[in-house]
Amino acid sequence: MISPDQYPTIANQLLTWFTQNKRPLPWRTDYAPYHVWVSEIMLQQTQMERGVTYFNRWMQMLPDVTAVAEAHEDDLLKLWEGLGYYSRVRNLHKAAKIIATEHDGIFPETYSDIRALPGIGEYTAGAIASIAFNQDVICVDANVERVFARLFDIDTPVKQKQNMEFIRKTATEMLPSGRAREFNQALMELGALVCSKKPHCARCPLQENCEAFHLGIPQERPVPIAKKGIKHIDVATGFLMHNGKIYIQKRPEFGVWAGFWELPGGSVEEGETPEEAVVREFMEETEFPVQIKDKILVVKHGYTTYRVTMHCYFLTFAKEHTAEPVLHAATAYQWVNMKELDAVTLPAGHRKLLDHLQTDLRLIPLLENS
Ligand code: ADE
Repeated sequence: MISPDQYPTIANQLLTWFTQNKRPLPWRTDYAPYHVWVSEIMLQQTQMERGVTYFNRWMQMLPDVTAVAEAHEDDLLKLWEGLGYYSRVRNLHKAAKIIATEHDGIFPETYSDIRALPGIGEYTAGAIASIAFNQDVICVDANVERVFARLFDIDTPVKQKQNMEFIRKTATEMLPSGRAREFNQALMELGALVCSKKPHCARCPLQENCEAFHLGIPQERPVPIAKKGIKHIDVATGFLMHNGKIYIQKRPEFGVWAGFWELPGGSVEEGETPEEAVVREFMEETEFPVQIKDKILVVKHGYTTYRVTMHCYFLTFAKEHTAEPVLHAATAYQWVNMKELDAVTLPAGHRKLLDHLQTDLRLIPLLENS
């Protein structure tokens, strides 16, 4: 799991990469607010190459905000013809008139004044405040969401509320003060050119820190929005016992059961047995080499639209090993005794498992001998 002290390194890697790889776009020369604004509105539903062609044509006819304010709507629509989503150009016209009358023809600088203009939502206001005025605000578009979904291995759809909050909070913490113009564009540019739908990890500057890359699943992030209907899944988990204690870890602040303590584990992949899955999951999440001592039981439980069959095992280290994990899917860990384990908040399936274990007489001697 990436910890906040890695954020400055990641931000630097992004900034260096952007300096060397950014596309030479027409609004990237002087970053005039008017240019940045029009580019952002055009790019909302339009591919970059097409956007640049339209942008250049627009600027030849309408060199500044006042020209837009004074133009006839029919002429603006003509310049927009072929781009679609014509409410965008109507809002550009309305906003230009407001800038002409209420801001003396000068593009407003504060985030709230920018956000108040027609056609400007949270993303576009952040983009203009940061790219045109280099203010320390973030802007998160689908490209940025994809980069974060992979970097932090976000295992539920990114649009879920707690995931969006996590991305906004993390991007804000990662943003190097005074560098928002480059930082925000670097994230978007990385998402467009490298961390695209089909990822090109070999040329990614963030590869070494990327959890989805580490797990070999970048193409499975972001997770698509769940289809309606019940889904049956098999998962595997286990009690790793060492010196009479049990290993637990804390889930990240996003995804399902955000912030809960849990036993490591995860889905049984196709062609894999649950036994193989639990060993693999422990290695991926903690780098612990584990072996199975005994099968405990199968727990069945449901959450949202999932019906989960959870295979549970007693585990020990497969060879001499330090009790310290390398955390790839958690923010903290503890070795606890049964009483301490009973006191922590666990996901529903793990709680069922624990309730069973209170009556499983095999556990005590196993813990004593571990
Ligand atoms: N897409 C929308 N705005 C962008 C920007 N400023 N840089 C790269 N891609 C973008």
